[in-house]
Amino acid sequence: MDLFKVYPLFDIRPVRGQGSYVYDEHGQAYLDLYGGHAVISIGHGHPHFVERVRAQLEALPFYSNSVQNELQEALAAKLGQVSGCEDYTLFLCNSGAEANENALKLASFQNGKSKVIAFRKGFHGRTSAAVRITDNPKIVAPINEGFEVVWHDLNDSAGVLESLAQGDVCAVVVEGIQGIGGIYIPDAAFLRAVAAGCLEQGTVLILDEVQSGYGRSGAFFAFQHAGVTPGLITVAKGMGNGFPIGGVLIHSGFEAEYGMLGSTFGGSHLACAAGLAVLEVIEQEQLMANAAETGQYLMQELRQFSPVAEVRGLGLMIGASFEFPVGALRRQLLFEEKVFTGSASCPNTLRLLPPLNLSRKEAGIFLEKLHSALKKLPKTKVA
Ligand SMILES: Cc1ncc(COP(=O)(O)O)c(C=O)c1O
Repeated sequence: MDLFKVYPLFDIRPVRGQGSYVYDEHGQAYLDLYGGHAVISIGHGHPHFVERVRAQLEALPFYSNSVQNELQEALAAKLGQVSGCEDYTLFLCNSGAEANENALKLASFQNGKSKVIAFRKGFHGRTSAAVRITDNPKIVAPINEGFEVVWHDLNDSAGVLESLAQGDVCAVVVEGIQGIGGIYIPDAAFLRAVAAGCLEQGTVLILDEVQSGYGRSGAFFAFQHAGVTPGLITVAKGMGNGFPIGGVLIHSGFEAEYGMLGSTFGGSHLACAAGLAVLEVIEQEQLMANAAETGQYLMQELRQFSPVAEVRGLGLMIGASFEFPVGALRRQLLFEEKVFTGSASCPNTLRLLPPLNLSRKEAGIFLEKLHSALKKLPKTKVA
């Protein structure tokens, strides 16, 4: 059987990872400034992660959600403590799209409405409701077009408040920091105005922290920089450091009913062990502080690069916009300098999402390699 080819692939085969590096089958090291789409939070091959997952694999990797699972309770308690979101309960699933799908269902169960406010350049996943509120018509199939969506530009608080005033909006869904769209940060004043408008209208504010959460922005959640209290928060990516796990943090104003949500694999023993290991390392190694400091250093240095038009970001979620499309630069970085970086839907933006324990030294190595890649890039590519 052949694969259903939906991914354009680089001809590179990573077989091993350690810290901020992955290695191919010939032992060639690649510095990972992308974390495999922001998934690697505590670094490749972290010994505590490996040991906790290995021990759980040997003990019991899975039993269904029909029995007591103390690891789920331990994960919820630890997440509440490390994130500071003690006023929430946790529903566990397997991916970011699933987290958003469940959050939208919860919001709609809660207020009986179905219209959603979403944002241009936003991405929320590929399942039916999540893709409906994703600003990319190419990935929305006719079967996904099941409810009304009102689109606004990020930070257009006047527009959002006007839409909310109609009184028929189920949810406002916004990324803590827009990732795939090119690293755009919602203003604190915008988030506060939208949160207040939602409260007034009985609309649920859903913060999609799938990419920006888990310490990436220097705070546990990016919205915490604005000091708002969302009704629902969605998480995945960095939550399992590569193990598939996602979740919805649900504010105390929501009441659970048996059967209202569910998943076969969500919250498996193995997934919880992975999730606990991640939180323990984030806490023990103070990775939020490292993300804030190393991210600030990287952004400050990137702003000195002459062809860089703009640097946006918080912590280790960084977008550097150039005056030319970055495809050739990314290939130069990967194949000549041996550095993984990311793209964004805006072609001029280089997206950086390294492991949260990226050291200052490794950040410096990346900057040197970027210098070198830019120097070697044919002039036609930067015109
Ligand atoms: C902000 C955001 N939400 C949701 C998703 C979907 O996550 P997944 O691919 O795990 O379904 C992504 C994936 O890139 C994302 O960046």
